[in-house]
Amino acid sequence: MNLPVQGVSNLKEIDPLSHMTRFMEIFNCPRCKGSLNRQSSKIICLQCSHPYPIEGEIPLLYTPNEWNPSRNDVTDTIRAFYEETPFPNYDGIEDVGDLIEVSRKGIFARLLNEQMPYNSRVLEIGCGTGQLSNYLSVAHRFVFGADLCLNSLKLAQRFKKQHQLDRVGFYQINLFNPPFKEESFHFVISNGVLHHTSDPYLGFKSISRLVKKGGYILIGLYNRYGRIPTDVRRVLFRAFHNRFKRLDPRLSRKDISDLKKNTWFMDQYQNPHESKHTMEEVLRWFDDTGFEFMSSIPKLGFFEDFSENEQLFEPSTRGNWFTQLLAQLFLIITGNESGGFFLMIGKRIR
Ligand SMILES: C[S@@+](CC[C@H](N)C(=O)[O-])C[C@H]1O[C@@H](n2cnc3c(N)ncnc32)[C@H](O)[C@@H]1O
Repeated sequence: MNLPVQGVSNLKEIDPLSHMTRFMEIFNCPRCKGSLNRQSSKIICLQCSHPYPIEGEIPLLYTPNEWNPSRNDVTDTIRAFYEETPFPNYDGIEDVGDLIEVSRKGIFARLLNEQMPYNSRVLEIGCGTGQLSNYLSVAHRFVFGADLCLNSLKLAQRFKKQHQLDRVGFYQINLFNPPFKEESFHFVISNGVLHHTSDPYLGFKSISRLVKKGGYILIGLYNRYGRIPTDVRRVLFRAFHNRFKRLDPRLSRKDISDLKKNTWFMDQYQNPHESKHTMEEVLRWFDDTGFEFMSSIPKLGFFEDFSENEQLFEPSTRGNWFTQLLAQLFLIITGNESGGFFLMIGKRIR
């Protein structure tokens, strides 16, 4: 039996900016915080009249930092780098089925997808080519993928469009000047991004304000200890003109394409700027900005394992200085394939 599909007409033209239009009330001008208004080929601030163009159906809301010129600002350098080398790219992902399969192989993406409620509003800051944003939108969440790099966003947008993922939208932004109102999101995710900025704590404060009270922030950073093997390999690669790349566990794998390997090599070993952080440091960031620590990868208890069914959004122990140090020293071994990465989740309580 063929049932009529209500409210849908094949003849109706799909509005390429329907995502932004639908959520217009949570956007504001990244320059003056005025309300934005959509016009046919651009977006305009109703207060300062600044126009924001649209390219390839992506609103270009990027606004440069207006810092004192004596202050180091790597934004342009990082932007140029990722425009050349969009990360992580869609090699080997042809359709939504592939996207789900690849994403579920990573325990973090799988747990997120299982534990983030449907209909929640999610912002991924520094989404790169947008796999996670596209993936999380499949299961009925409203996702905003935001990044500095337009070439990455174009790949994200192409996948969204090809597979009609209407609940995700992609936006070019600078995380220091976000085009969103405070307390607009149930979840803000920033994975591997803040350590590519000149001031990660300032960046954290900027994006933490976008989380609703009772909502969650997820921050992934390079670890001071876990990153040591990568640092050593970088020195060796430079000394030996990029020979012995197989010393990197990912670059020695046979099941990864050359394109993926090259993208990883560039991101890990040729990146123009990165900083390293500790878990104690992020706990301090949480304490200072009104977030309660929930969970982390790795776990912070004494020899506590991260389980297959970890509850990411439930409180867990933050351990003490000794267990925190131990967890991070273990990253030197266990975090080798992920570049010495750690992830922390906090809940906004004030
Ligand atoms: C290593 S990639 C991470 C991509 C993705 N989160 C992932 O885990 O695969 C870092 C991303 O951060 C973005 N980024 C760096 N600085 C930024 C800024 N100031 N504002 C917005 N995005 C930024 C870069 O353009 C790049 O796409």
